[in-house]
Amino acid sequence: MPEITFIILGVTGDLAKRKIIPAIYKLIEENKIEKFALVGAARRELEMKEILKEAREFIKDVKENIWQRLENNAYYQQFDFYDCQHYRKLGKILRNLESKHQLPGHRLFYLATLPDHFNAITLNLAKTGIAKEQGKKWSRLVYEKPFGHDLPSARKINRGIARVFNENQVYRIDHYLGKELVGNIAILRFTNRVLEPLWDSSNIQSVQIHFREKIGLEGRGNFYDKYGALKDVVQNHMLQMLALTAMEAPQKLTGKFIRDEKAKVLKVIKVKDLLLGQYSGYQKEKDVDSNSSTETFAAVKLSINNKRWKNVPFYLITGKNLDKKEVKIDIKFKSVHCLLSASCPSDTNYLTIRVQPDEGFSLELFAKVPGKANAVMPAKMNYCHECIRDLRSPEAYEILLEDVIKGDQSLFVRSDEIEYQWKVIKQILRKKNQIYEYNIGSAGPQELSLFEKKHHLRWRL
Ligand code: BG6
Repeated sequence: MPEITFIILGVTGDLAKRKIIPAIYKLIEENKIEKFALVGAARRELEMKEILKEAREFIKDVKENIWQRLENNAYYQQFDFYDCQHYRKLGKILRNLESKHQLPGHRLFYLATLPDHFNAITLNLAKTGIAKEQGKKWSRLVYEKPFGHDLPSARKINRGIARVFNENQVYRIDHYLGKELVGNIAILRFTNRVLEPLWDSSNIQSVQIHFREKIGLEGRGNFYDKYGALKDVVQNHMLQMLALTAMEAPQKLTGKFIRDEKAKVLKVIKVKDLLLGQYSGYQKEKDVDSNSSTETFAAVKLSINNKRWKNVPFYLITGKNLDKKEVKIDIKFKSVHCLLSASCPSDTNYLTIRVQPDEGFSLELFAKVPGKANAVMPAKMNYCHECIRDLRSPEAYEILLEDVIKGDQSLFVRSDEIEYQWKVIKQILRKKNQIYEYNIGSAGPQELSLFEKKHHLRWRL
């Protein structure tokens, strides 16, 4: 069983408390790691106990004995990301802890900071040698999203990393890749004979990817106002879901092959149209510019410039403070030549992959209305992930951390993918013009209906 030293840089942030520490707790509880030490580092002067106490709120059914183990092995260091002395001191602390807890020295550095610090941290970790691999001792670096704020900044971070570390030490997080139903996209496509022969422009009319959120900024005004919906979720989660839906069959369903195929799709995306929105009252939010033109809503039409997807539009829709939380992919098949004398189907077949909530997928086919000779009705074939008894779906961060420990990069984003994703955002931003207002709790700006009309589209809201 793995024996690990975890180092979380930026441990006072929300992510560490809400996601990373709870995921480490679960790995301990489920015996996925044996011996370990956890070092949290951040600017403020604090006690690790205080941080753990806050993190505990995000763990269900805490077992006291496991919690004690976590507390006993957790340490805090006040840390300046820009000061090499602090890295040397951290190195000393790590050596002492590794000897105290009899750990082999495998180190997992989690950069849970804003991307502005990535370059300095990467360089200082390398300079001071604390993330150096020696013999069988591995060191891995996990970079939390967002990875940069545009193409040049992402490139700069990638180049900085490549200068001092090997790509096989680098794990760029997109936590959607750790979600069960996102992981299921490739399985669904490539393990079912019935789907793949239909998976192209001769049979698929369009694809919709929804990432709609009911929540607003949740105290992240400062971050969000600089990013907006396009950079916050389109650049990463939504484009990764698109890439998995649209990629060619990889040679094998493993790391390099999947990433190769995703990258090929991301490279040939063309932006066709967009509609942006901002919810009313956004400019009055805490830490938001009072004249802000940051979008909190986006609807985008894309195409994929390859043979398989010729003339198949991909529509993305996302927003904060909408009427509901729903992340899903709707694949709309083309219509059939109707042979019925009366009441032909008013719509076509759909395959819907529900990422959350109500994880699962469904295929809508048409069936005869009982008792009526010529009438049809949609019939849903449904797979409900949570209905499987005794199944606990691990949180995305548990899956991802476990993969870092195993050294499996399949669910992490490679440098080229990240850069292609930023190129798509660059194309979108070039088309940015008007921002339409929408009411909190609505389905988005009213002008969305014009977008629908223009593209002969019906959102499946
Ligand atoms: C994050 C975004 O990456 O994903 C947030 O920064 C968004 O704005 C979140 O709310 C959604 O993730 P999840 O796992 O809660 O659906």
